Amino acid sequence: MRTTELSTTGIAIPIHGFGAMPLSIQGRPDEAVARRVLHAAIDAGMTLIDTANVYCIDDDDIGHNEALIASVLEERDDREGIVVATKGGLRRPKGAWHCDGSPRSLRRACEASLRALRTEKITLYQLHSPDPDIVFETSVEQLARLRDEGKIEHVGLSNVSVAQLRSAQTIVPIVSVQNRFSPWFREAADEGVIEECARASITFLAYSPLGGKRLSARIGSIPALVAIGRELGVSPAAVTLAWTRAKGATVVPIPGASRIEHALDSARAMLVDLSQEQVARIDAATFSTAK
Ligand SMILES: NC(=O)c1ccc[n+]([C@@H]2O[C@H](COP(=O)([O-])OP(=O)(O)OC[C@H]3O[C@@H](n4cnc5c(N)ncnc54)[C@H](OP(=O)(O)O)[C@@H]3O)[C@@H](O)[C@H]2O)c1
Repeated sequence: MRTTELSTTGIAIPIHGFGAMPLSIQGRPDEAVARRVLHAAIDAGMTLIDTANVYCIDDDDIGHNEALIASVLEERDDREGIVVATKGGLRRPKGAWHCDGSPRSLRRACEASLRALRTEKITLYQLHSPDPDIVFETSVEQLARLRDEGKIEHVGLSNVSVAQLRSAQTIVPIVSVQNRFSPWFREAADEGVIEECARASITFLAYSPLGGKRLSARIGSIPALVAIGRELGVSPAAVTLAWTRAKGATVVPIPGASRIEHALDSARAMLVDLSQEQVARIDAATFSTAK
């Protein structure tokens, strides 16, 4: 397994994390399958697991993914080396995704996550998204308080701009930023978030690195990914993950999967590196997001 460091925390993480969301949202697999996928991902070296309280069906199911992970980890004797990163700041009324970054909600969410994860302290707690109805810094201040109280070890952000990241850093050390990043969606690179994270030694967790559920189905039909995959003897998905890593010194993609073969492929892709010429070919290729 190839590892890197979670920012400058001294905590070792693999260069690919596992995004556990598909195991708990609409269309999720049977619990027995979900458990096998998680074990397989960890066995293959993806010992950073990204979750959230809202990876579930709706508000009555909050904590589904966290409880699943906690229960799988209890079956293992290598729990110490596994980093679980969770998030707070959203709700799921009737299955919709709504922001809720009020200090009161964040505290309740964090305390519920501690219970669901069956832990005393959350290694990495991320603000899921800035809430347009709450001053951003007010949400971050609450995460700083939860850290001071020992409920959280490290604070991360998700779905933020460079300006928001810089503002948050004046309140509490930020060790990770989790934004969408794939060949289809390059805003994190275009708007400077990846560069800012590299400059500040902050881990950039690239979410939906395979394009998410809909676009990942097209990976095998993108000529540049297929051709480079053939050159290297790896899957087009592995090439896609290597491309995200090539875009910044601190980029760690967190691919999701609900099938074991996909989790294993994403883990094997940790061994894949692209040449500058291969990166440039993917940069220049067409990635349509049209339905
Ligand atoms: N912070 C945020 O706001 C936010 C938002 C979205 C996601 N995330 C995080 O990012 C993680 C990853 O994002 P995501 O799950 O949306 O999208 P993704 O990782 O880009 O794509 C997942 C999809 O790709 C398929 N797949 C996985 N490995 C594959 C492979 N080797 N070859 C072909 N297809 C493959 C999966 O299929 P199967 O399911 O059939 O295996 C699944 O449909 C999530 O699990 C979550 O932890 C965070």
